[in-house]
Amino acid sequence: MTMSMPEVERALRQLRLSGVRATLETRILESQASNLNFLETFSLILQDELDRRQSSLIDRLYRTSGLDERTSLEEFDWGYNPQIPKRLCFELHTLKFINEGSNAILIGPPGTGKSHVAKAIAYAAVRQGWRVAYGEADELLDRLAFTINTERRSAIKPYLDADLLVLDDLFLARQLPTQSADSMQTLLHQRYKSRRSILITSNRILEDWKTFIGDAALTSAILDRLLHRSVMVEFRGKSYRLKEAAARLVMGSTKE
Ligand SMILES: Nc1ncnc2c1ncn2[C@@H]1O[C@H](COP(=O)(O)OP(=O)(O)O)[C@@H](O)[C@H]1O
Ligand SMILES: [Mg+2]
Repeated sequence: MTMSMPEVERALRQLRLSGVRATLETRILESQASNLNFLETFSLILQDELDRRQSSLIDRLYRTSGLDERTSLEEFDWGYNPQIPKRLCFELHTLKFINEGSNAILIGPPGTGKSHVAKAIAYAAVRQGWRVAYGEADELLDRLAFTINTERRSAIKPYLDADLLVLDDLFLARQLPTQSADSMQTLLHQRYKSRRSILITSNRILEDWKTFIGDAALTSAILDRLLHRSVMVEFRGKSYRLKEAAARLVMGSTKE
């Protein structure tokens, strides 16, 4: 009745218990070495399978999130622009706003770290098991707008279903094409109805959005839903990119 090791391996493969398969030999040795009883050994094996499933879920969530880097707040230098509301950023990083279905808007001049903080929040959400959809706003809205009608429903679905949608660098281009503004309105309207969070970063102050959207009624429809439950975080200070560029220049000149 007792299975041989290759038979156990085969059964685990068939049952897709890859976490058990990866650690079984170690756990058998451990159980013998430490005289563990059946339940003790079984708990360890079960935990290995749970751990493996959790980490493959997170890998999958990261791959489908559209994030291009695993950014964190650890490497963020809060001393560089002390005017940035640190407390609000950390509050968002707790991800309570996703539970509440609230939105967050990070506004301020280029290079002050808005995208960095937004990506760190998005990556924290992935690690917590939330479905995240991240995209550079103008490119994403443009792509959705120009997907042909029959494919639009499936193209837009991931951005409606995600627990957190991040639209990074909204209105980087001066004018949003009409079709893109319509996609934005659809996203905001649907997500508002299903109480799903949106995180937006932009260099443009809200007062100017009407100009970039190009239609007063559409702008108030968009802002109305976005601002109903939302946190506004104002970034202020100097560009970190300039600091990095200056550092490169200094490095260059010392080489000569
Ligand atoms: N305070 C900071 N500490 C560390 N790195 C920063 C800080 N602010 C910005 N950066 C870095 O500078 C670059 C530009 O920041 P980014 O977040 O893209 O700015 P924004 O989105 O506001 O234009 C990024 O590489 C980012 O990681
Ligand atoms: Mg940015």
